[in-house]
Amino acid sequence: MIIDVPPFDLPSRLDEAMAIYVAAMNYHPGSGRQRADHVLRHMELQAFRFRIALDADGRMLGFGYGYTSLPGQWWHDLVRKAVGRGYGEWLDSAFELSELHVLPAEQGRAVGERILRSLAEGLPHHTMLLSTPEGDNRAWRLYRRLGFVDLARHHLFPGDHRPFGVLGARLPFAGSGDVDESDPLGLGLR
Ligand SMILES: CC(C)(COP(=O)(O)OP(=O)(O)OC[C@H]1O[C@@H](n2cnc3c(N)ncnc32)[C@H](O)[C@@H]1OP(=O)(O)O)[C@@H](O)C(=O)NCCC(=O)NCCS
Repeated sequence: MIIDVPPFDLPSRLDEAMAIYVAAMNYHPGSGRQRADHVLRHMELQAFRFRIALDADGRMLGFGYGYTSLPGQWWHDLVRKAVGRGYGEWLDSAFELSELHVLPAEQGRAVGERILRSLAEGLPHHTMLLSTPEGDNRAWRLYRRLGFVDLARHHLFPGDHRPFGVLGARLPFAGSGDVDESDPLGLGLR
């Protein structure tokens, strides 16, 4: 099941979500606490949306969140410079996907895709934007499947040595999103 977590409920869900973040990205546990502070600040931003996948026992399997990407925000301003003038319109009505993570043991069962499609559902924005470390992995495969294209590649953000791809997709996403007609794993997802 994918559910929306409204801001008033978010603090009570954050520890579980940050444990998923740390495990999925193989980060130091301290980075989860740091990220939690970011989330609580992001919660104030326009069109903030936080969605989680739960199994039948109510255990969180993954989460994703984002908000309207606007001038004056750290990521937006850096990305606007990185993509150059030709792609400026991609940023004019954009929902920024800030995080999307699934518990390692649950990856590869379409949980991430369901969360991402749920986040995009009914958004008034024209595009969704994100940045992700360069690599040949499941995240890239998912984003390509949903129609994300390159806006910038091998981009370096301040304070991070890893090169990133900056990707964008037109909304609504391409494809039916019909990944759950059978739910063969009995995860109780819809
Ligand atoms: C990236 C990430 C969020 C993707 O989520 P995910 O749930 O693992 O992957 P997807 O939703 O794309 O699922 C795709 C898989 O589901 C499978 N699938 C599709 N429909 C299915 C169904 N009905 N039942 C079961 N499996 C299904 C597909 O075959 C595919 O498997 P494959 O990748 O082995 O070919 C997740 O892998 C993750 O947290 N990775 C580490 C952190 C990360 O990189 N985050 C993104 C940083 S920007």
